[in-house]
Order: sequence, then structure tokens, then C-alpha cells
Amino acid sequence: MCGIIGYIGNRNAMPILIKGLNRLEYRGYDSSGIAVMNDSIQVHKTIGKIQDLESILPDQIDGTMGIAHTRWATHGGVTDNNAHPHLSMDKDIAIVHNGIIENSSAIRKILENKGIIFNSETDTEVIVHLISLARKEGLDPLDSVRSALQVLRGTWGLCVMFHDLNQIICARNGSPLVIGLGESEMFISSDPHPLGEHTQKVVYLEDGDIAVVSNDGLSTHRIEGSTDHKVVTIEEQWGESELGDYPHFMLKEIHEQPEAIRQCISGRTLLSEGTARLGGLNMSKRTMKAIPHVRLIGCGTALYAAQVGRLAIEHLARVPSFAHVASEFRQNDPVIDPKALHFAVSQSGETADTLAAVKYIQENDAKVRGVINVVGSSIARQCGHGVYIHSGPEQAVASTKAFTNMVAALNLFALQIGRSRNLPRAAGRSLVKAMRELPSQTESIINSSAPYMDAVQAIKDAKSVLFLGRGFSAPVAREGALKLMEIAYIPCLAYPAGEMKHGPIALLEEGSPVVVIAPDDIQRDKTISNIQECKARGAKIILIHTEGDNIAEHGDVCFTIPPTEESLSPMLSVIPLQLIAYYTALELDRNVDRPRNLAKSVTVE
Ligand code: F6R
Repeated sequence: MCGIIGYIGNRNAMPILIKGLNRLEYRGYDSSGIAVMNDSIQVHKTIGKIQDLESILPDQIDGTMGIAHTRWATHGGVTDNNAHPHLSMDKDIAIVHNGIIENSSAIRKILENKGIIFNSETDTEVIVHLISLARKEGLDPLDSVRSALQVLRGTWGLCVMFHDLNQIICARNGSPLVIGLGESEMFISSDPHPLGEHTQKVVYLEDGDIAVVSNDGLSTHRIEGSTDHKVVTIEEQWGESELGDYPHFMLKEIHEQPEAIRQCISGRTLLSEGTARLGGLNMSKRTMKAIPHVRLIGCGTALYAAQVGRLAIEHLARVPSFAHVASEFRQNDPVIDPKALHFAVSQSGETADTLAAVKYIQENDAKVRGVINVVGSSIARQCGHGVYIHSGPEQAVASTKAFTNMVAALNLFALQIGRSRNLPRAAGRSLVKAMRELPSQTESIINSSAPYMDAVQAIKDAKSVLFLGRGFSAPVAREGALKLMEIAYIPCLAYPAGEMKHGPIALLEEGSPVVVIAPDDIQRDKTISNIQECKARGAKIILIHTEGDNIAEHGDVCFTIPPTEESLSPMLSVIPLQLIAYYTALELDRNVDRPRNLAKSVTVE
């Protein structure tokens, strides 16, 4: 979702801002814009891609200070006028903003009554007019921003540039902003990703902070009062985030799974003791033993990984565990037990629903641990402790390698807590051994010449696709359905296989594609019965099963996965589903990496 990049220093701002916008592209957006300080503030903005913005820019804009934005529409349609930056009426102040101003309609009416003419339908524009009015009343730039923020209700990460000031003023409340410290130059971004090539030294703004940023430093302030900031060194190496030889980021990221899993488990398993060690959790064996239950919270793919995780924790540690949809969590008035363990699961670490649930749990005196990919992200920092999944940058909107690594990290936790309770050492050892085989097993699935085109033919023109699985494979069915739906735009339904006969079976007719995940586990035989029920209604079965298991006769198109432990099978069975979604989307000529209406980082509730 919306991204911000800002620069102030001695270099030409425009190329730095455009490169930064490209780095933020993965978050999802529908328009972009840039403001550079020249003799006056020069603004260029347009709907479409960054390349569309570049095509309307002059060859050069001299200016060493600027702000830029990618917008994902919330208030107001996708139009050039609604794109950011927005200007004050006298064009002396420019703003870019992420977040939502909840009381913008009321403020807008007041401002219109004062004669302000709006140029856009956005909630953001009220902020720049409020700041401008405050300046006209004689307040200095910092206080004019502060006074505007005091009127607002909602969330913001924003940058303001003044025509008569060689400083950028930024503020954060609910939408992240990070400031990169260079040599006589400073960078501002909505996430640390674009900053890596410029500096490792960053300052994360906290909710309620305002920062005044100039070439040679920054001062931080509060909406009320003042503050000192803490400089952090980013240690995580995000590695290469370019496409390389791959046609799409999604395919690249699917292929990166073996190495990502290696990164996630390396140094965290102890074969001799048959256990795992997750130091970042900051939990003693004693605390683990006393946990009454575990709650895992996430959205979308992260939710499905949490659903696998909760099964693994119950299976290996016999601790009651629950997975919750983050956007439903606090609204459902849950009972929070401070002794319980809570996990927030998120790739980006910025998902607003998940962050809100974390804060709610903390307000109710319980701790939350993160299971997060992006180091230093808002949820990671809000939790303080947790497990980084170490997938590396995930740029395709459809999440792939983050799912496998979330499941890997949650299995590591299930093993650690299991061993701190009653899981026998031998069982722990065989899980560790199985985990260590996962990188080569995932590699063999990715490199196999499986019949993807046959699956595509069965699916591509279908009215809908049904995904079925039992036990550990039920969340995998949901994840497979989500992948196909979001990138191929085919309606998909995922059901626990046994539940299918209680309703969805009515959808089946001659040729209806049904994707069934049936690894060789204790659920397999019952799943085969469900396959028969589908076949009797003319369904075409796309079957994921374990190598060497002679159930291929039940499928019309079959994909195999190597044998593994039950709780790890989702990390293997999900891969054919990711590839089926990918190839189907390709066949239908969809925008695989940037599906319509979706954003990588969903920073609104
Ligand atoms: C699906 C997908 C989304 C995300 C969801 C949560 O492919 O990417 O469903 O999984 O928006 O995002 P994070 O994990 O960043 O909290």
C-alpha cells in the first residue's frame, strides 16, 4: 500500500526519489507523484506505474530536496488529482501522506467555509490546508504541523515540505516512517527497504513523533512536548531484490524457497537433543511449561500459516492453540489471559489489522511475540520479541516463500515447546531430521517436470475451483485457493474435505475442477472417500499426494511431494499449488506480480 520516500542533501533529489519509488513498488499502488524544491515546489503526478510518472517528468529538475509517493486509493478514486503530493492553495507547502484521516469530511467542510478550494477528493488534502492556515496565523513550520496534527483523528505517516525552509518535517501515527542517516544527506521512507543502498543507520519514528529533518541531522519532537531519538543499525541483509533471469517475482520467490527455508532453520535446530532454540522469543523453559494456551493472529496467507502452526503446536506440544483472523480479533471481545502466549504472524510486519490486534492484547496486559519477515517493521518493534522468519524480500503481491517460512518457524516453536513439555526426544530428533531435508525436498518439487499445463487446462475456464484437504492440509487448501483467486481471478472455495458434502458438493457438475491435497497421513483414507464423492458427480480431480503412495489412480492430474512429517507436509504440498496458480494466471494473461486491487502491505483496517 501507499509508500513514501523523501530526500534532503547535496545530490539531485529526483533520481534518488524515483529509485526509491521503484523500491516501494512491491507494496502495491495505483498512482504516484513527486515534489522537488526548485525555485518553487515542482509537482508531477499521474495514475499508473512509476514508468508513467517518469514519462511525464522533465529531463532534469534541479533541486536537492524532495518528497515522493505511491498511492493506493482509499479516499477518492484513482485520478491524477488524487495522487500525492498535495499542495497548499498558494503552492508553498507540499505533503505526502500514508494512512487515513477519519475526520477529514468534517474538517473539509470547515475549511471550505473558510474559502479553501480543494483540488482532490482525498482525506490528505485537509492536512496541507490546515498547516498552511496555521503558518498564515504566524506559527513556525514545526508548530504549524503540530497544530494541524492535533486536529486530526486517524493514522498518518507523512512528510511536509515548505517553500521557504531547507527542511522536511515528518510525522508518524500508526503508519510507519523511518529516517535514514547519510553523510550530509538524509532519507525518509515508509519502510527500510529503499534505504539499504544509502545507509544502514536509521531512526524509526514512534506514534506521536514529529521529526524535523535537514541535511545534517534531525530533531524529534512529540505532538505534545519533545523527545530524543534512538539510532538503530539495520543488520539484516536484504540481498538482491532484482528479477534476475526470472520473468516474474512470484516465480523467483517460489524458486527461492529452498534457500529461504535453509535460512530460517539454520542454527535453530539441535539434532542430538531433538529440539529447537528460538532465542528471540526470550522465554525460559519454565515459562513455556506454564503456557495455558497459544493464540496466533494474522491475515490472508499469514492466517493460513498460523492455522498450520496451531495444529503443529497442539500435535507436538499438546497445548491448546487457536488461530484468529486479525481483523476480527479485538472486535470479538476476546478473553485475554496474560499467561497465554500470543503470536502475531506477518510477512510485512505492517498489516494494520494485525498491528491493531497486537496493541489490543498488550493493552490487556499480555505479551505478543512476532513471527515476522521484515526486520524492524512496525509489528516486530511493537512486539519487541519474536522469531524472524528470514525469507528475504518478498516483492510479488502473492505471498509464497513467506508462507513456507512461517510454517517452518512455527514448527520450530512447536518443537521447542513440545520438548519443554512431553514430546519424547526421539520424536523431536525425527522432526529435526525431517526439517533438515526440506530444502532439498522443496528443490526437487520445484524442479520436477510435473503436469502443470494439464492442471491449467482443467482450471482456466472453470466457473469456480474447489480446494479440499483435511487436518494439516485444510489450511493448505485455503492457501491454494487464495493464490489462484488473487492472481488468476477465478472464484475458488476451500473446504475441509469432510465438510464438502455438507454444501459445496452442490456446485459440482461434469468437469468441475477439484484440487485435493492428500499426503500420506492419518487423514488420507477419509480424503480418498471424499475424492470418490466428487468423482461420482463428474468432477475432475487435481491431486497432490505423497511419492510412492499408490493413490494416483484417484486423480485426473497428479502431483507428488516427497514423504515428510505430518506437521511439515504443508511446506511441500503448497508448492504445486503456488505453481498451478502461477501458470494459470500466466495462461490467462494476468498481471502475476501486481494483481488488480491488491496491495502488498495492507496498512489500513
Ligand atoms: C496473499 C497475501 C495476503 C497477505 C496478507 C497479510 O498472497 O499476500 O493475503 O498474506 O495481506 O500480509 P502480512 O503477512 O504482510 O501481514
